[in-house]
Amino acid sequence: MGTGWRGRGGTGARGRGRHGDSSATPPQLFDYISECISDFLDKHQMKHKKLPLGFTFSFPVRHEDIDKGILLNWTKGFKASGAEGNNVVGLLRDAIKRRGDFEMDVVAMVNDTVATMISCYYEDHRCEVGMIVGTGCNACYMEEMHNVELVEGDEGRMCVNTEWGAFGASGELDEFLLEYDRVVDETSLNPGQQLYEKIIGGKYMGEIVRLVLLKLVDENLLFNGEASEKLKTRGTFETRFVSQIESDSGDRKQIYNILTAFELLPSGTDCDIVRRVCESVSTRAAQMCSAGLAGVINRMRESRSQDTLKITVGVDGSVYKLHPSFKDRFHATVRQLTPGCDITFIQSEEGSGRGAALISAVACKMACMMGQ
Ligand code: BGC
Repeated sequence: MGTGWRGRGGTGARGRGRHGDSSATPPQLFDYISECISDFLDKHQMKHKKLPLGFTFSFPVRHEDIDKGILLNWTKGFKASGAEGNNVVGLLRDAIKRRGDFEMDVVAMVNDTVATMISCYYEDHRCEVGMIVGTGCNACYMEEMHNVELVEGDEGRMCVNTEWGAFGASGELDEFLLEYDRVVDETSLNPGQQLYEKIIGGKYMGEIVRLVLLKLVDENLLFNGEASEKLKTRGTFETRFVSQIESDSGDRKQIYNILTAFELLPSGTDCDIVRRVCESVSTRAAQMCSAGLAGVINRMRESRSQDTLKITVGVDGSVYKLHPSFKDRFHATVRQLTPGCDITFIQSEEGSGRGAALISAVACKMACMMGQ
C-alpha cells in the first residue's frame, strides 16, 4: 500500500487539512495522516490486516535507511515546529500506535519524484528521471554509482534526489531574480530558501502575477490606476487563475469573469495585459525549469559517454498537468537545450502512491529473501 503527504493543494496552497496547517505540531500532523489511513482502511474493509506501507513524503530529508529519513526543513509554506531534525517514519509509526485501531508496517519512505520515476519505470524501462512541477518543484535521476561518493561500490546506478528547488540559496540565482521574486521570498515562511522553486512552483506563481499587476496599476498602466482591496491582499491570486486566464478562448470572457470576481472593472485592453502578464510569468517558470532538467539530462549523457541518450522522464504535478501551455513550452525548451538526447515525457497518474507501493513491495520481498 502506498500513501503520501505532500501538502496537496492543486496549483494553489489550499488543501491544508484541518490539522495539517502551518501551525500544527508534528503529533497533530501525523495523527491526521494516520486518521486518513484509518478512514481508508475502513472504507476498503482492510482494518483487520497488517499491511506493509510505503510513505511518500515530499519534503527534503536525510535518508539514513529505506525506512528512516530525517526532515531537514519544511518547504512550500508548511511549518510544524519540532518536526525538523526528526525521523518522519518514526513520527508516523508513533501516531499509528497512538490511534491503536489498526496495525501497519511502514517499510519504505520515498520522495514524490522518486515515486513518480518508479511508477513510470513500471511502464517504460527507459524512465530514469522523475520530476514534479506542482505546488513545489524537484527532480530525481539515476546516477552512475562511481559518481556517488556517499555509497561504496562502483557498479550500476543509484537514484539521486536532487532537491533542486533549493538551488539559489548561495546567491546562484541573484542575477535572475526580479523585484517580485524578492517580495515573494521575503514574505514566505522560508526566506532565502527554495529560490529556484519559488520561480517555478504553483505555490508562488499566482502571487508573482499579483505583484506584477500591482506594479502596473501603480504605474497607471492597468485598471485606470486603481487596484481593489482583494487584489491588494497577499495570496488571493491563486495559480489556478493563471491557468484559467491563459485558457481563455480569445473572447476574454474567462479573464473578465476572474477579474470582476476581484472587484475590478477591466477594459478589453486590461484583460489582454493581464493575460500577457500570466504568459510571461508561466513561460519564465517553464524555461527556468527546462534549464534544470536539461542540466540533469546532459550530465547523464556525458557520464554515460553516449552519443545519443534515449531517455524517458516521468512527470507529475498540478502546474505541469493543469496549465494549458506549460508542458509544451517546457518540452520545447528542454529539447532545444539537450542536443544528442532523445527524450520522451510521460505523465504519471497517481505516481506518488503507486510508486511508494511498488517500492514497498520490493522492500518486503528483499526483506523476505534475507530472512527478516
Ligand atoms: C520538496 C521536494 C519535493 C517537491 C515537489 C519541494 O518543496 O523539497 O522534496 O519533491 O517540493 O513536491
